[in-house]
Amino acid sequence: MLGVKNLHKSFGRNEVLKGIDFNVDKGEVIAIIGSSGSGKTTLLRCLAFLESSDAGEFIFDNLHADIRKISKKEIRQARMKMGFVFQGFNLFRNKTALENVMEGLCTARKMPEAQAKEIAIEMLKKVGMGNRANYYPDQLSGGQQQRVAIARALAPNPEVILFDEPTSALDPELTGEVLEVMVKLAREGTTMVVVTHEMDFAEHVANRVIFMEHGVVVEEGPAKGVLTNPQKEPTKRFLKRLLRQEDSEES
Ligand SMILES: Nc1ncnc2c1ncn2[C@@H]1O[C@H](COP(=O)(O)OP(=O)(O)O)[C@@H](O)[C@H]1O
Ligand SMILES: [Mg+2]
Repeated sequence: MLGVKNLHKSFGRNEVLKGIDFNVDKGEVIAIIGSSGSGKTTLLRCLAFLESSDAGEFIFDNLHADIRKISKKEIRQARMKMGFVFQGFNLFRNKTALENVMEGLCTARKMPEAQAKEIAIEMLKKVGMGNRANYYPDQLSGGQQQRVAIARALAPNPEVILFDEPTSALDPELTGEVLEVMVKLAREGTTMVVVTHEMDFAEHVANRVIFMEHGVVVEEGPAKGVLTNPQKEPTKRFLKRLLRQEDSEES
């Protein structure tokens, strides 16, 4: 459904993506894991055209094209079919939860206000925030803000939602409520690409796991396989290090 072939991206002389092949099918949940700096955020941003790419092929439904030759109109159309959830929520501080969710519907999609409001309320209910519609971001916890951000991503009914470490800015006690919403979306068949360090989520919710290091996909496959029986040395090292961190946090 959505994918790239042989994607390259450099920042100056720093080649950050070195020929990435990636695709997500309808209804799939993909977890992207890897150390900090491996290029995960850049991959998501290139997929969403929030960042320009240097070379590669872009595929989204019927559109197959050289990623550098895609027109502004095609980019706009592709972005209309994607939702994005960032690490830092990125809500408008001066708008309520409801207004934040309505914003994209009213501006980018020119939807009448009454209709946008109806959808926004429905989406806030879906993420368990129906009773906070008129609160401002500052009056909400980080977990609640992130759930509003998920409602905002869901509102235009995108074909796929890209999540960039949606829980890493949250205190541990608040990650659960966000993950719970994501699990629910996954069960409903929402197509999701999730950059995450939450290995439980990756193992139990994702259909497929992709491990990235230094701008390449080192290993990918069914979640259980990659996480419990990794084949490549870098994947083994990464998972071992993660396990050690968890041990030291518990002790
Ligand atoms: N806007 C930018 N300008 C320059 N370098 C960047 C920019 N964004 C990311 N990078 C560099 O790209 C590399 C990959 O970063 P990133 O995609 O954020 O990795 P990850 O999300 O896996 O931690 C890093 O070396 C980072 O410093
Ligand atoms: Mg990142």
